Order: sequence, then C-alpha cells, then structure tokens
Amino acid sequence: MSQPLQGERILLGVCGGIAAYKAAELVRRLREAGAQVQVVMTAAAGHFVGAATFQALSGRPVRDSLWDANAEAAMGHIELARWATRVVVAPASADAIARIAHGHADDLLATLCLVATAPLAIVPAMNHRMWLHPATQANVATLKSRGALAIGPDVGAQACGEFGPGRMCEPDAIVAALVAAHAVAGGDPLAGQRVLVSAGPTYEDLDPVRYLGNRSSGKMGFAIAAAAAELGAQVTLVAGPVHLPTPAGVHRIDVRSARQMHAAVLGALPQDIYIGAAAVADFMPARVAEHKIKKPTVSSDSGLTVELVRTPDILAEVAAHPQRPLRVVGFAAETAALADSARDKLRRKRVDAIAANRVGVTGSGFDADDNALDVYWRQTDGSETMAALGPTSKAVLARELLQLLLDRVPAAPTQDTP
Ligand code: CTP
Repeated sequence: MSQPLQGERILLGVCGGIAAYKAAELVRRLREAGAQVQVVMTAAAGHFVGAATFQALSGRPVRDSLWDANAEAAMGHIELARWATRVVVAPASADAIARIAHGHADDLLATLCLVATAPLAIVPAMNHRMWLHPATQANVATLKSRGALAIGPDVGAQACGEFGPGRMCEPDAIVAALVAAHAVAGGDPLAGQRVLVSAGPTYEDLDPVRYLGNRSSGKMGFAIAAAAAELGAQVTLVAGPVHLPTPAGVHRIDVRSARQMHAAVLGALPQDIYIGAAAVADFMPARVAEHKIKKPTVSSDSGLTVELVRTPDILAEVAAHPQRPLRVVGFAAETAALADSARDKLRRKRVDAIAANRVGVTGSGFDADDNALDVYWRQTDGSETMAALGPTSKAVLARELLQLLLDRVPAAPTQDTP
C-alpha cells in the first residue's frame, strides 16, 4: 500500500459536532496513508464519539485535558505540540475556529494550536448560517492569513435538515488535501508546467436520441487534473459527458464524441504533459441518422446492422505530433492480460507511460472512488519497468501518479523499439 503521508506526525483535534463520527474514518485513512496520528478531543467531542474509538484506530491514548497528570507526565502538552509535523482540526467547529483564531489557551486543543509551530489545517463543519456568519468568515480569514489551510466545507444537506455550505469534507478529500500540502511543502513540483488531461467517456451518436457510450465515470481523470493544479501546473481538462464539478483552478473544455475530444486535445497543444485518462470510443457509427431510427412498421424478426468506423486515436496522434508533450501517458482498461496489453500499448502508441487499471481489486473500477494502477514505462536505457500504486482513493492515486511521472519517468520523447 502506498504511503504518501509517510513521516507526517499529525495532531488531530476533534471538536464537538455530528461530523465527529467522520473523524474516526479520517484517522484510519491518515494511518493508511502512512501518518502517525495523535487524537486530541475537546470536551464537546466526547458527546459524539467515544475516546475508545479513536484510541483503537490511532493506536495511541487520546488526549482530552490540560489537567491529566498521567498523560502530561508521559508527554507534556508542549512536547506534544513539538512532536507534531502538522495540526489538523477536523471537524473544526465555529467555536474552535474562533478560539484558535483569537489565541485562546483554555483547553488542550486551543493551547496546542498556540504552542505548535507545525502548519495548521482546519476542516470546518457547522450549520451553514454559522459558517456564513461574518464572525466565522473573519476568523477563517485570520487563520488563512497566518498560513492555515482550510479544507472545505462541502455544500449539501446538513444534519439539522437545512441545506448549504458547512458539511465536513469526506475523509478521502481531506487526506488528498493533506497529501497535496505535504508535497507542496517540498515546493510546487509542477509550477510553470502545462498539463493536459482527458477524462470521462465519449458518446458516439447513432441518431438524435441514441448513442454508443461506455461506463467511464471520469473520476480518475478529474482527480489527476485536480492534483496537477494543486501541484502548481496550468491545467486543461478535456471532459467527456460527465456530471462532475470542475476542480479548482482548472480550465475545462466539455466535449461529447471522440472526434470532438480529438479536436479539443490537439487544439490545446503545445503542452508539457498529456495524460489520456478518457475512455475514448474506438468506433463510431459511420453515419448519424438525421431522424430517430424507426423499427420496421411490419412486425419482423430482422435485426439492425450499424456500420461502425474507427475513431481517431488521440493518444497515438499526440505522441506522434510535431508539438509532442515531453511526457505522454495513456491509460489501459482491460479485463484480461493486463500486463501484456499495457506493455504492447506502451510500444505501439509510442507513449512514455501506460497506467493500467489493476483489475480484480475490490472497490476499484469505473465508478468507484478507489482505484489501483500498475504503471509501465521505459527507462532511459530502453528497459521497461513497472510500479504498482494503490489501492487507494483516486485523489491520492492521482498525486502519486504525477509524482512518479516527475521522479521516475524520463522526460525525453520515447525512442521506438520495433
Ligand atoms: N485512446 C485515445 N483515442 C482512441 C482510443 C483510445 O486516445 N480513439 C486512448 C485512451 O485515452 C487511453 C488509451 O488510448 O489512454 C487506451 O485506450 P484503449 O481503448 O484501452 O486502448 P486501445 O489502444 O484502443 O487498445 P485495444 O487495442 O485493446 O482496443
């Protein structure tokens, strides 16, 4: 399992709020990502989740008081604050945000925030009116101006039955944002680079109401675009027909068919990196009927034959283009002989790397939030190699894929091997 947060020692402050239950899953995800986690609960948090849950998941006794002599003897709060490489408050209540912003030191969490020099991340969770109140907004702005990272909140239905911004982000999104912050701590590795990503399915119209499509959700490609933007790249995302929100800072071009995707991708060159994550149809109907295709009026058993023709191979064309990006990456989604076909695609399409969806991994696949990839590439000496990433969330996987491209995949155009 990949561990993008290896080396992080996270002090996780859990405040009182219904979203506290999500903090339990967050602890699990953070540990899976390689971080050590020390949970600090506020008094109110204990009304929602028991300390035993956090202790079991974090593998450490929970701290919840400035006045616990035994805990202080084992590791005093000043030491605890020094131990942390990152302080994360999730869920961060309106009250906790206010007290941290104003430098209070009347409970353990606020005191630790005051002592710690490690970067702070808050994950707000509260009623939308509390979130939108100028006092909360001013407090969040204060924390941000001091370098704190605010993750979320999400917009949606709230526990109180109302709707609006204030839901705590899902644990996966929080981990992805922390992984991003962790990577950025070493600089913006994609700063100044142009990254072009294709995502989603294509729909090939048969007539005005029918089309040939596929089950790609677009989530992997969108996660790659988001991760590239977070790493400092200038990102263009060519998206097939999907209903996913555009990641922050990403320029999105919506298309429907393989031909439209082909035009949009080639029109976006030159780029430094192209990642073809879209599930592009290999065939399209030779003709699109002007009117809806009708069944024969007289009842008959005869079927319907549709003539299909090849679509342009976008990936291969980008790889052969005079303005070829320095790194061209394709995806492979096969149900059998994954390694052979990935290696074959690497050679045939003359790309620098192929990211092959590992089949048979629970929870991975088209519409899943998790995925696992085997990435194949050719080293400078011409030998082929492979790295296994995940299984993990597509957000974390996207970042790891980009990191692997930067660290290990040679940037020179591929030399063809017959
Ligand atoms: N691709 C593309 N244009 C196409 C078809 C595919 O750019 N018309 C890209 C996809 O975006 C993906 C990669 O090619 O990055 C692999 O797609 P896939 O359909 O699995 O591969 P094919 O080359 O079509 O392989 P096969 O011979 O198995 O059909």
